[in-house]
Amino acid sequence: MLDIYTLGDEVLRESCEPVQTFDSALKVLVDAMFETLAEADGVGLAGPQVGVDKRLFVIDIRGEEKRAYINPQIIETSMEQVPYEEGCLSIPGVWHDVVRPAKVTVQAQDVNGKSFVVHAEGLLARAIQHENDHLNGTLFIDHLSEEEREKVIKAYERRNKGKTRRLR
Ligand code: NI
Repeated sequence: MLDIYTLGDEVLRESCEPVQTFDSALKVLVDAMFETLAEADGVGLAGPQVGVDKRLFVIDIRGEEKRAYINPQIIETSMEQVPYEEGCLSIPGVWHDVVRPAKVTVQAQDVNGKSFVVHAEGLLARAIQHENDHLNGTLFIDHLSEEEREKVIKAYERRNKGKTRRLR
């Protein structure tokens, strides 16, 4: 089990470096990320959320899609944009609608360095975009209006009173 970093931790705001080495250490990390994700009952988990500033994330939509995305690149997005309620393991306990493209095409590498392409829609498309944001230091609250963001952060602070580190 890995520690999940939360809002206020600097690593969540870093721009991540590409993964260069596809070795056993990477496989160990990815396995640990999948375990941590399942334990936290989440859908996706990105490197910086576990303190690793590398371009990778894992997605596990139970029973449907389980995959590690190394050095992902979103190469196509649909014109159609849709709202979808998002939460984040790094901002636990709060959710808010975020508007994003309904469909995306992502190119990435697996743990062996082999390239693959995924055409995604629905929850998977949403998770890919949310996790990919993490690799650029972006959180879902950054997509909200200032007013909405303040509201979500206040709710988060109230909910996690005494449990959180410094915020903002
Ligand atoms: Ni997140």
